[in-house]
Amino acid sequence: MSGTQEKDDKGDGETPAQAQAQSQPQTQKPKPKQPYGQYQIDLYTQALVTGKMPIVTTDPNKLEQAAKEAMSPQAFNYVSGGAGEQATMHANRLAFRQWKLIPRMLRPTMPRDLSVTLFGKTYGTPLLMAPIGVQAAYHADGEKGVATACAALGVPFLYSTASCTPLEDVASAADCSINPLAESERAASTSSITVAAAPRWFQLYWPLDDAITASLLSRARVAGCEVLVVTLDTFTMAWRPLDLDAGYLPFAQGEGNALGFSDPIFRQKFAEQHDGGAVEDNVVQASRFWLGEVFSGHAHRWEDLATLRRLWGDRPIVLKGVLSVQDAEMAAKHGMDGIIVSNHGGRQLDGAVPSLEMLPEIVDAVGDRLTVLFDSGIRTGADVLKALALGAKAVLVGRPVIYGLGVAGSEGAQHVLAGILADVDQSMGLAGVQKVAELNRTMLRRINYGGDVKSCL
Ligand code: FNR
Repeated sequence: MSGTQEKDDKGDGETPAQAQAQSQPQTQKPKPKQPYGQYQIDLYTQALVTGKMPIVTTDPNKLEQAAKEAMSPQAFNYVSGGAGEQATMHANRLAFRQWKLIPRMLRPTMPRDLSVTLFGKTYGTPLLMAPIGVQAAYHADGEKGVATACAALGVPFLYSTASCTPLEDVASAADCSINPLAESERAASTSSITVAAAPRWFQLYWPLDDAITASLLSRARVAGCEVLVVTLDTFTMAWRPLDLDAGYLPFAQGEGNALGFSDPIFRQKFAEQHDGGAVEDNVVQASRFWLGEVFSGHAHRWEDLATLRRLWGDRPIVLKGVLSVQDAEMAAKHGMDGIIVSNHGGRQLDGAVPSLEMLPEIVDAVGDRLTVLFDSGIRTGADVLKALALGAKAVLVGRPVIYGLGVAGSEGAQHVLAGILADVDQSMGLAGVQKVAELNRTMLRRINYGGDVKSCL
């Protein structure tokens, strides 16, 4: 906390304005704004009044089991599994266990402000929905369900290149969920998006063919995506035993290829090479063609980022999958706007370092030049606080929301997200923090004992 903020602290949890308001008659008392933490009260109230319990467990350590019971074995294994012996996936959780929060007392914590500013735009919370592929495999609500859940909470939805639903349909569903007039306004509009849009970013698995890349990025811009996230760590699939043992690769059967299959340039190129055939006529061949573009086994080069910059223009570009200071420096050198410190939730290079382990030194190296975001292992409000205190500007939440989706569709996804946000809100208060910017490393202690091993997520 800054010196000025310390000075304003009356030691009773109130700002001077709040203290003045307290002395006014009852009716004029300003209600403390607690939009996200309120969800906790709502759940208790619902139980008391209607006897209804939460539609999905609120216990982060029971969520995975709940999803296992609800989802098909293949889909559950696909989400919950990691690469190799899952060492990195588990290390992601252990890394969180090794940082503990040092709460401060008798400080103003209300009204709480969870907002963050990323690339000049203010978002209501420091949470983003991680790009997750093949969402229709987990529940019929699929990407539209998760995107509408995010829209309801003001959380940016990151549309994955590996989605089951075309980008435009997801964007439209999310907009209509917060503004039912969106569809007609969009239809009446002559240009791209003119309606108030639910916040969304676009995640790219970078095709080999620049013409296809150009087409995807053009669609993303028209669909109102604010930020381009380029995932660098998945130009080929890792060794994933759970999927291998079940023979499950959704993309090979056409699942999760909707972005490509709905792309005019991809379709044209496929037709040129397959006697004029349409994608629908030969889904297996088309899937192979698409996989050859996005999971080709060939990494692009740093110099190629200039192509993405040219195609995307001056909107922000963020590189996802950065785990080293050297690559973070390269991202800055090549004019990127941000990075996501991520190991893909332990699904790619098994044995890779936990993302949280690398976060502080990467922030120290490039935090003045790049917006550093974080994912891999976020499960609770405390996890969010720890990552923010270590210097991340915002964090991506992945598997927990998908487990919620698997259990109870869009409503389940929204419940999980709302729960994490409520936990963030409450935890900030309990840590003695009013605003996200107050979180810093003085609030953390790295412990040097093995700590809890109950890091089962
Ligand atoms: C992912 N992730 C991912 N990332 C990406 O850039 N594009 C994608 O399509 C996907 N797809 C995907 C599918 C599934 C089933 C999972 C679990 C993850 C990675 C994702 O964005 C994020 O990095 C991880 O989910 C973070 O790990 P945790 O916190 O969810 O364990």
